[in-house]
Amino acid sequence: MARSRFGPGESQVQLCALNRRAGQKDNSDLFRKAELRRRICGDVENASIFLAGSGFGQMFRHAWRDKARYTLALDTNKRKVEELRFQFPNVDARVANFSTFTDWPFRRRFQIADFDAFGNLYPGIAHFFEKAPWRTPFYVVASDGGPLAFKRMGHVQQQLRRNTSSIRFLGARDLDSYMDRLVWPWWKRIAVKHDLDIECRAWLANKEKTVAYYALKLETQS
Ligand SMILES: C[S@@+](CC[C@H](N)C(=O)[O-])C[C@H]1O[C@@H](n2cnc3c(N)ncnc32)[C@H](O)[C@@H]1O
Repeated sequence: MARSRFGPGESQVQLCALNRRAGQKDNSDLFRKAELRRRICGDVENASIFLAGSGFGQMFRHAWRDKARYTLALDTNKRKVEELRFQFPNVDARVANFSTFTDWPFRRRFQIADFDAFGNLYPGIAHFFEKAPWRTPFYVVASDGGPLAFKRMGHVQQQLRRNTSSIRFLGARDLDSYMDRLVWPWWKRIAVKHDLDIECRAWLANKEKTVAYYALKLETQS
């Protein structure tokens, strides 16, 4: 059970105050992100969960805490990690960069990973699949801020680039093409590399269509 400076059972007003402190001004996005997570992981219980870019723990609060047996939460921001520890003492929260993290808890095997850092997530995700302990079915959720650079400048993160000449034209206008031609093929390559099937996937965009929020369920190849 989480501790709270406001006592057990925060009111909506108190939650909004917490969210404002977390820099989350628009709660609609927060709740849509949490809903995406709850939807893809509907059946999961007692999970080991990895939070990459855990911030003040909004996603933990709204989507994960009921599903978590063990949670490793990494953030490069010390103040956020301290606040998350205060709010959720049971979370193993650490100040660390998830793209280079090495101190994995090998007694656990993660079933859920939540990459919510907006920068270029793909080196960190690839690092996780190579080095971290995980098991299937495996659920991954990500907030990809790449569409902003893609829409503005046609820029694509290096890891996603493959034949971008035809994509640039479409992608500058259409977020579907960002997902269909860049993100999902990248995941296909990760899945093949680790003998996984993509069982299901879902995505949505923020209001400005500058961030793609997406989720996948991965299963061992049959
Ligand atoms: C959008 S906020 C995360 C919100 C958070 N998931 C929540 O539920 O409240 C992005 C966070 O990612 C962190 N971050 C960015 N790059 C990171 C990295 N490479 N490793 C760890 N944390 C990172 C930032 O410090 C920031 O707190």
